[in-house]
Parts: sequence; C-alpha cells; structure tokens
Amino acid sequence: MRSSGISVIVVVRHLAWLVLILCSWPRVAAAQAQQAPKTDPVEAAALNTILGRWGKKASWEWNISGELCSGFASTEIDWDYYPTINPFIKCDCSFSNNTLCHITKLGINLNNFTGVLPEELGNMTKLQQLRASDNGFIGKIPHYFGSMTNLEDIMSFSGFEGNSFEGPIPENLSNLTRLENFTGIFPSSAT
Ligand SMILES: *[C@@H]1O[C@H](CO)[C@@H](O)[C@H](O)[C@H]1NC(C)=O
Ligand SMILES: *[C@@H]1O[C@H](CO)[C@@H](O)[C@H](O)[C@H]1NC(C)=O
Ligand SMILES: *[C@@H]1O[C@H](CO)[C@@H](O)[C@H](O)[C@H]1NC(C)=O
Ligand SMILES: *[C@@H]1O[C@H](CO)[C@@H](O)[C@H](O)[C@H]1NC(C)=O
Ligand SMILES: *[C@@H]1O[C@H](CO)[C@@H](O)[C@H](O)[C@H]1NC(C)=O
Ligand SMILES: *[C@@H]1O[C@H](CO)[C@@H](O)[C@H](O)[C@H]1NC(C)=O
Ligand SMILES: *[C@@H]1O[C@H](CO)[C@@H](O)[C@H](O)[C@H]1NC(C)=O
Repeated sequence: MRSSGISVIVVVRHLAWLVLILCSWPRVAAAQAQQAPKTDPVEAAALNTILGRWGKKASWEWNISGELCSGFASTEIDWDYYPTINPFIKCDCSFSNNTLCHITKLGINLNNFTGVLPEELGNMTKLQQLRASDNGFIGKIPHYFGSMTNLEDIMSFSGFEGNSFEGPIPENLSNLTRLENFTGIFPSSAT
C-alpha cells in the first residue's frame, strides 16, 4: 500500500520533469532569440547606491549576472512567496516592447537600516509598493513620495511601524491618489 504510493509519486515526478523539459524547450529558444530586457539604468544606479550605502547586496537570486531585474525579480510570481529574499525587488519588464524593466516593488523590512530614507529612492519613479517596516529610519517623510504617482501601497510605512519618522507629512502626499494602504501611525504633528 505504502510503497505503491511512493512509486506513484516517483512516476508522477518523472512525468512532471518530462512535461517541464518539453514545454520549456521552445521557450528557451525564443528567450535566447529575443534580447533579455534591461533594468532602467537610473533605477538600477539608484538601487545599487542605496544598497551599497547600507552595506547590502542584491540577492544572487535576482541580480543574475549584474542585471537587477532578472531571476525572481522579473517572474510573475508574487514576492510574498519568497519571504527569505530580503532585500527584494520586483520588476515590470513589459515596457518598450518587453525590452525595458522598471522596479515596481521594493522590500526592505526588518533590516535594521537607520538614518533618513535615501534621496535616491525618489528616482524609482515607477515604484508601486514599498515595504520598509521595522527598521530604524528617522527624520522627515521625504517630499519625493509626492512625485511617485504609481505608489499604491506603503506597507507599514509609518514605516511607520518600527521606525521613528517625524512629521509633518508632506502636503503633496495628497497627490498620491493611487495610495491605498498607508498603514501605520501618522506622526502626531501632522494632525
Ligand atoms: C537620483 O536623485 C538624486 C537627487 O534626488 C540625484 O542627485 C541623483 O543623481 C539621481 N540619480 C541616481 C542614479 O541616483
Ligand atoms: C549586482 O551584480 C553586479 C555584478 O555582479 C554588481 O556589480 C552589483 O554591485 C550588484 N548589485 C547589488 C545591488 O548588489
Ligand atoms: C516588438 O517585438 C516583436 C518581437 O519580439 C517584434 O515582432 C515587433 O516588431 C516589435 N515591435 C516594435 C514596435 O518594436
Ligand atoms: C537586527 O538587529 C537584531 C538585534 O540586534 C538582530 O537580532 C537581527 O539579526 C538584525 N537583523 C538583520 C537583518 O541584520
Ligand atoms: C512635492 O514637493 C517637493 C518639494 O517641495 C517637490 O520637489 C516635489 O516635486 C513635489 N511633488 C509633487 C508631486 O508636487
Ligand atoms: C497636486 O498636483 C497638481 C497637478 O498635478 C498640482 O497643481 C498641485 O499643486 C499638487 N498639489 C500639491 C499639494 O502638491
Ligand atoms: C490594500 O489593502 C487591502 C485590504 O487589506 C487589500 O485587499 C489590497 O490588495 C491592498 N492593496 C494593495 C495595493 O496592496
């Protein structure tokens, strides 16, 4: 009973491999024929500067051969499935006929980063989600968030959770019409 169950699993596994190989064959060829998309150079430089200053490296799982928007950063699979990759980014590589990637998500929770939020973050203009909770960030909430019009979600940004931002909230954050989830506590002087 038990051993037949195991052998069924083995057969299924072999079948799965076969299906995987057969399906990926033409796709690998197609991917090689088409140029791999490149990360927006301004965003890549900004991220390299930011992580470098914090003494962090991009994971090899997404900085494949120096291209930041590759590997797990550019797949369709949501970043919630990779809780151990930290810092982590996700990219949208569908720009300019699938040749250009913009960084759309940045996750830096729980990294013990300190100081003010880096200015270069403002160069990631296509950012939709930022997760920056449980660090040691201090200082004012930067004005450049007012220009990041794609921002939908600043998760626990009062970073708010586990950081020590001080008010006031920049007035032009009200221009962030797409911001849905601004969780955490607003600095008291903003009210
Ligand atoms: C990013 O923005 C800052 C000013 O906010 C600027 O000085 C810098 O050159 C920009 N570029 C990069 C790649 O960081
Ligand atoms: C990404 O990889 C390249 C090449 O290995 C390296 O020069 C660069 O510093 C890496 N970026 C980060 C943020 O670790
Ligand atoms: C987009 O890429 C496809 C092939 O990858 C090509 O056939 C098409 O002409 C390209 N379109 C433009 C506008 O460059
Ligand atoms: C952050 O600091 C705490 C306490 O010092 C430590 O336990 C934890 O490993 C640090 N986390 C990182 C990502 O360095
Ligand atoms: C918000 O204000 C800052 C500084 O006052 C400015 O640099 C930025 O462009 C403003 N953003 C918007 C969307 O108005
Ligand atoms: C919001 O954006 C509009 C135009 O996009 C601008 O006229 C207005 O001054 C902005 N408000 C703030 C508070 O920056
Ligand atoms: C905002 O929060 C709601 C409820 O928690 C959730 O359903 C929605 O997906 C969130 N939006 C974004 C952009 O994460």
